[in-house]
Amino acid sequence: MGIGIEMAPDLKLLREHPKLTVQANGYFYEVARNSDGAFTYTVKDRDGSLTLPIRYAFGVRNQTFVLEYQGRFYESLVSYYDAVAGLAVTMGDERVTPHNLVEAMGRQTSDQEITACFDCHGTGGVTNGQLTLDKLKPGLTCERCHAGASAHMQSLTGGPPAPVPQKLAAMRAEDMSDLCGECHRTWESVVSQRLFGEKNVRFQPYRLANSKCFLGDDPRIRCSACHDPHHDPSHEQAGYDKVCLSCHAPKTCPVDDKNCVTCHMPKVRAPGSGSVFNDHYIRVVHAGDPYPY
Ligand code: HEC
Ligand code: HEC
Ligand code: HEC
Ligand code: HEC
Ligand code: HEC
Ligand code: HEC
Repeated sequence: MGIGIEMAPDLKLLREHPKLTVQANGYFYEVARNSDGAFTYTVKDRDGSLTLPIRYAFGVRNQTFVLEYQGRFYESLVSYYDAVAGLAVTMGDERVTPHNLVEAMGRQTSDQEITACFDCHGTGGVTNGQLTLDKLKPGLTCERCHAGASAHMQSLTGGPPAPVPQKLAAMRAEDMSDLCGECHRTWESVVSQRLFGEKNVRFQPYRLANSKCFLGDDPRIRCSACHDPHHDPSHEQAGYDKVCLSCHAPKTCPVDDKNCVTCHMPKVRAPGSGSVFNDHYIRVVHAGDPYPY
């Protein structure tokens, strides 16, 4: 699975784009490498400028910077977007009208929001609900999905007894959607926050659950039927076809007998972003159909 965060000094995406500038909201923004090699985020107007070090870059293809200013955390008001190969106003902040340099630099986050950011995008950054950024590591540790695994390993080498962790390979579809949904959002969280319309295409557990194929008790439609969570997603069609054909008879489709997901899991561009997602709401799609839910 992809890594959801980059940390200074390993800012790979910025190294490929050592100087980025954009003008937005009447302010001038620059993300650039300073003389000692560290990346900084600068916002300027006629009266002054504010420069902050970039320590945390969230996302892989697109990146938003989490900045620290006077002991508070801010989500940068401009982000790197792959589609424009440069900076643009951060998705969701299009309607923000900054009144000063600090507001133009970024959107101040609440304690709860920033803790959630680091909890989904890395490991070790949050302990007992508090930020522990000195321990933050990019990526997910085994323990994040295999709860109890490290206690069990220690018990085998003389530590206190600990039960064998739950075997995830035995999980039902619905339970796995809830596990992955801790970060990819569960059906319940999308519905309770009323996140309807194309913006919810990024919430795979919700989209998948809407599809007639989603039988909650059936392991053949759980996330790991199609994805090995230990690796990046495959682009090979044959593997996905096999999953579809584990439930559907080979001649069910009147149109084709291969490349099922190319028609039945259409690509959708999330509004306001350059990102394209594969709609996990598996269904018959006709040109011009409205986006369901
Ligand atoms: C994003 C969640 C996630 C992370 C992180 C993760 N795994 Fe898994 N792992 C799974 C899932 C889901 C399965 C079940 C896959 C299946 O067979 O359908 C699994 C299966 C396994 C299995 C087979 C036994 C079982 O529980 O089903 C082993 C062994 C395993 N993982 C080891 C690891 C190790 C070692 C790491 C860390 C390097 C790791 N995993 C990280 C989700 C994860
Ligand atoms: C602790 C949070 C967390 C959990 C739990 C989690 N993911 Fe992820 N996953 C992420 C983040 C964050 C990204 C985005 C990485 C990026 O694009 O920057 C991601 C990306 C992915 C991707 C796309 C990777 C790519 O390179 O495009 C797949 C596929 C995926 N996750 C599958 C799963 C599955 C399956 C499970 C459950 C077994 C799971 N994830 C559980 C946080 C999580
Ligand atoms: C509930 C878990 C969760 C929380 C909280 C969360 N994210 Fe994410 N984020 C994800 C997952 C999963 C992905 C990958 C799928 C996607 O693009 O939506 C992602 C993707 C991203 C991306 C890449 C977007 C793109 O278009 O490629 C950025 C940037 C990002 N998150 C930043 C943040 C920031 C900043 C915060 C806090 C203000 C935050 N996230 C909070 C789970 C989370
Ligand atoms: C029936 C097969 C199938 C199942 C089940 C499935 N996926 Fe996917 N998923 C795909 C395909 C196909 C892609 C696109 C892969 C590529 O990049 O070519 C994809 C891509 C993704 C991505 C990358 C962003 C996107 O939407 O394109 C994430 C994240 C993801 N899946 C998460 C999940 C999670 C979480 C679950 C369980 C709730 C899940 N998937 C269940 C087939 C599946
Ligand atoms: C766990 C078993 C299972 C898997 C795996 C599965 N399906 Fe289904 N699918 C079903 C069931 C059950 C229905 C509902 C059949 C009915 O209503 O007659 C269905 C319905 C459909 C429909 C008709 C949907 C509609 O709205 O009328 C399509 C299209 C479809 N599946 C395609 C696929 C494709 C493509 C894949 C692989 C990406 C897939 N299915 C994977 C069980 C599955
Ligand atoms: C080129 C696009 C395309 C591909 C590839 C494709 N399908 Fe379809 N499929 C369709 C269309 C369009 C329909 C609706 C046909 C209609 O209503 O006349 C359909 C219908 C279906 C149905 C519903 C049948 C019914 O009687 O309601 C299922 C199930 C299905 N496809 C499964 C699959 C599977 C499984 C694969 C891969 C082995 C696949 N499809 C490959 C376009 C495609």
